[in-house]
Amino acid sequence: MVPLAELREPCGKVEGLIVANEPVPLDLLPALRVVANFGVGYDRVDVTACVARGVVVTNTPGVLDDATADLAFALILAVRRRVAEGDRFVRTGGWSGSWSEGGLAEELTGSTLGILGLGRIGSAVARRARGFELRVLYSRRLGADSDLGEFRDVDALFEESDIVSIHTPLTPETDGLVDARRLALLRDGGCLVNTSRGEIVDERALVAELVSGRIGAGLDVFAHEPAVPRELLDLPNVVLTPHIGSATRQTSEAMTRLVVDNLLAVARGEPPLTPVLP
Ligand code: 8YV
Repeated sequence: MVPLAELREPCGKVEGLIVANEPVPLDLLPALRVVANFGVGYDRVDVTACVARGVVVTNTPGVLDDATADLAFALILAVRRRVAEGDRFVRTGGWSGSWSEGGLAEELTGSTLGILGLGRIGSAVARRARGFELRVLYSRRLGADSDLGEFRDVDALFEESDIVSIHTPLTPETDGLVDARRLALLRDGGCLVNTSRGEIVDERALVAELVSGRIGAGLDVFAHEPAVPRELLDLPNVVLTPHIGSATRQTSEAMTRLVVDNLLAVARGEPPLTPVLP
């Protein structure tokens, strides 16, 4: 088996391809009929080029909303309550008194959560926020008002939130959307959580803010995965996970099922369940 990125010779027999958000070498796959993306985000698949050649593209929306929203909350809680820092403290033998001395954390209950992108996953985060009695603000490009929170434009979302959680897909419009100027709008002690795509944030600017200690962050995604900026590795105000938003047994099974059902539908000449349109 050859990894897709290393394919150099034409492969005339391949009619269906499963990818994990990777570029598809269409010129080397003349018989291709369907690209089934294992994941909801397909920013590295050139959907326009695929469709122009009559190649169907599918993704896995819906089935990973809960898992990703859960992880966003895990990161929010971990940063606000200094969970990973506490874990390191215990493991390295730093805990000597009978309870924590100093190093007070920030309470989550009652704080303001800004959701950047109130789609399926953002909405699942907003529903969880109710249980924590959070005030929810949201920004989104399209769509009617939502009863899940109060609408704000992106700048106001950053200004008014204690925590901003990113749930917008990576598109030309959202690439670099969270730039140095917007990060500076976050209040001191605020927190950024990203379980979407690293490229949505100006990573250099984020590193500078985090190194200064002004804000905290929970990051599951990075601009150049699997590379993580070295400066982040020793910072106490950052919790890092390796792109595991959808990585639960249940969600992985559901994604696999949907990928297979999409492939089978196309093989049978039926419409795919979850097609992606350019
Ligand atoms: C990964 C994701 O695709 O769905 C997405 O957009 O980022 C993830 O679910 C998945 O883990 C496979 O790489």
